[in-house]
Amino acid sequence: MEHDGYDPLILAFCCNWCSYAGADLAGVSRQQYPTNVRIIRVMCSGMVHPNLVINALTKGADGVIMCGCHPGDCHYIDGNLKAQKRADAIFLMLEDFGLERERFRLEWVSASEGIKFAEVMRQFTEEVQKLGPSPYKA
Ligand code: FES
Repeated sequence: MEHDGYDPLILAFCCNWCSYAGADLAGVSRQQYPTNVRIIRVMCSGMVHPNLVINALTKGADGVIMCGCHPGDCHYIDGNLKAQKRADAIFLMLEDFGLERERFRLEWVSASEGIKFAEVMRQFTEEVQKLGPSPYKA
């Protein structure tokens, strides 16, 4: 079901070394992506604690996306693999909090993937829009 007129608030945690640069490239190369995506630069995707994601989703955000370097490319060797493990924990926590698993996503975006960054943000925003506002907003 589509929620007309509802503008989801999306938080995107992007690692400094790849995904943030990918977001920057998307901007510089004028790739369109929704303006309701707020980018938060973190040093590595592995540094984003699951509590941060849950806090965001229970305190105003409608969707959270975590973007990191492709496997093998993490500046901190295996931070992105840690992020992947944390994503599994996050999905379980979402269930406990009564939140749809589609409100969270983990993606790998390199510094040269500006087009992919924009595409992922468009898709994710659309998906979260279909879910409607976070139930914690009410
Ligand atoms: Fe990008 Fe670790 S530095 S995921």
